[in-house]
Amino acid sequence: FEISWTAEAAEKGGYEHFMIKEIYEQPKAIRETMTGRLSKDDSTVLFDELKWTKEEAAAIKKIVITACGTAYHAGIVGKYYLEQLARLPVEVDIASEFRYRSPLVDSSTLAIVISQSGETSDTLAALKEAKRLGARTLAITNVVGSSIAREADQVIYTWAGPEIAVASTKAYTTQLVSLCLLALYIAKLRGAIDQAALQKIIRGLKNLPEQAHEILEDVEPIKTFATQYGFNEDVFFIGRSLDYAVALEGSLKLKEISYIHAEAYAAGELKHGTLALIIEGVPVIALATQTDVYEKTISNIQEVKARDAVIIGLGFKGDKNLQKYVDHAIFIPATEKHLAPILAVIPLQLLAYYAAVTRGCDVDKPRNLAKSVTVE
Ligand code: G6P
Repeated sequence: FEISWTAEAAEKGGYEHFMIKEIYEQPKAIRETMTGRLSKDDSTVLFDELKWTKEEAAAIKKIVITACGTAYHAGIVGKYYLEQLARLPVEVDIASEFRYRSPLVDSSTLAIVISQSGETSDTLAALKEAKRLGARTLAITNVVGSSIAREADQVIYTWAGPEIAVASTKAYTTQLVSLCLLALYIAKLRGAIDQAALQKIIRGLKNLPEQAHEILEDVEPIKTFATQYGFNEDVFFIGRSLDYAVALEGSLKLKEISYIHAEAYAAGELKHGTLALIIEGVPVIALATQTDVYEKTISNIQEVKARDAVIIGLGFKGDKNLQKYVDHAIFIPATEKHLAPILAVIPLQLLAYYAAVTRGCDVDKPRNLAKSVTVE
């Protein structure tokens, strides 16, 4: 009798890597992040851990978000949420920049730090700096009792469960859910959102676990693209508005684990330089989930198509128009524009994963990278 499994294999629960296991845990993680945070009749967002008064919410004049890596990309999405829903000015900064920048922060500032581990040294230092300058501080983190959780005035936990793979997946999607809930919470307290709009987004949020599950049920087309284009040396991601924010995270995923050079561009910015790099056969992943800038994105897709790039479009199911302009299309279930990033990132995580597997990379432990960077 021979024991043919290791403790690590047991922890992977039948999956080949932690990353793919964590990708598949997203429906559950998203659901748990929302648990207890919506009122019974789904009319409002509750945060027992915050319990802000209207006066406290009204006192905020500006929000600064700081984080590193994937959490920073979540912060960029958070800026759209907080600006568009709560109508507050938001700055997003990389923690290692913020801490040495002599930032303009005072007691009317809400400083939000985002960190999966709650231990990233630069993010912790940024939090301390914001606190020193008198800001009110709020941490969004996945680890209970972590250094960042202890240092911040208040904490929102993401409840994603342990994330082992270096490349962050379920932490990112649950950070987005947390940020969306927070934006709605502040928006309601400040009277910045009407009840119908609030409820529409809440309904959308509640559908997300099932919709994420739907994406994960049919990964074959994504696997095919990954094997087809996994050996290309350069990949570009383009999108506008929230699609741009997701493009940043999609390109980071690909870089981190497959070592493919990937760049994300705001689609409208391409012609100011990067278009020079778009030549025949270069894969361009074009995100087109944001209806208010949809036509503009299609024009940008045509610009890259004219240079013979291979375009993989990512849009909402039922978007027959997109198919006309792209070489391949990936469809996700339709949702509210603010929630699109939470679904759109999943195919991009899978693309990175299968590209890395195709290239024989060490998916869970990519070269030179650490899960948590606790030194400067
Ligand atoms: C490291 C990890 C990234 C992560 C970043 C921030 O670089 O490799 O995946 O996004 O740190 O980590 P945090 O724990 O603060 O979210």
